[in-house]
Amino acid sequence: MTERLAEDLPPLEIRTLRQGHGQPVLLLHAFPVDHRMWSPVAQLFPAGQTVLAIDSYGAGHDAVWPETPSLDLAADAVVSALHRAGFDRAVVAGLSMGGYLALAIADRHPDVVAGLGLLDTKSTADTPEALANRARSAEAMFAERSVNPVLGMAASLPSPESIRKDPGLTSRVEELILRQQPEGLAWCQRAMAARPDRTGVVTVAPGPVLVLVGSEDRTTPVSASEHMVVARRDAELVVVPDVGHLSALEAPQAVTDALVGLIERSSPV
Ligand code: MLT
Repeated sequence: MTERLAEDLPPLEIRTLRQGHGQPVLLLHAFPVDHRMWSPVAQLFPAGQTVLAIDSYGAGHDAVWPETPSLDLAADAVVSALHRAGFDRAVVAGLSMGGYLALAIADRHPDVVAGLGLLDTKSTADTPEALANRARSAEAMFAERSVNPVLGMAASLPSPESIRKDPGLTSRVEELILRQQPEGLAWCQRAMAARPDRTGVVTVAPGPVLVLVGSEDRTTPVSASEHMVVARRDAELVVVPDVGHLSALEAPQAVTDALVGLIERSSPV
């Protein structure tokens, strides 16, 4: 755990998607979108559940980010924001990049974590090929001053079946991507590239652990989730059929149900 939070980091802001009581859940978004990706899930939680979200560094319309690209710094700033909003602990659940951030929080601030949700994500560091792709993508967004280099992810991340069932999905994700700042997304790519292997954190993270993945996720495939469940034998593994990488947008009911189960397991009666 860090000795103290880095007070000189640009502050982040907790968003309350739903006001309630009891154990809050903090939802951490994927790349290259922002906290708004959680809207469909937030609506489905039972009344009384406090649902929090946050735009991480580099994300959102009013994105801020520190000089050094690092999810560790983002983790410190998220925890600072949570405390400022009056919460000591939360069930922390992140999808993809949000999962990398959730693991950074569990590593650096385990006292904050009442339960951990790892959705369409992985605990391993990037391969050399992934590192090269990230560097290319970040450079292209800087050079073009545009998010165009990642716009195609709106169509490539969901499964073909999800797009067939919900033809408006791609344009809704595009709209989320077009709201981002290219320099902020480039920061995210570099921060993700710098993250370490955190498989050991999955093993020791406090509270119950949920690992959820779409069966058709090509970015962080089912095998990446199985790797985490091997590291954490008591984790619950949920594989959502016919769904791709953006499970929270493709199958919000299945994701909410799994998160509700995680919250229940994290709050002993
Ligand atoms: C995401 O969905 O957050 C990204 O695809 C994750 C990544 O690039 O590793």
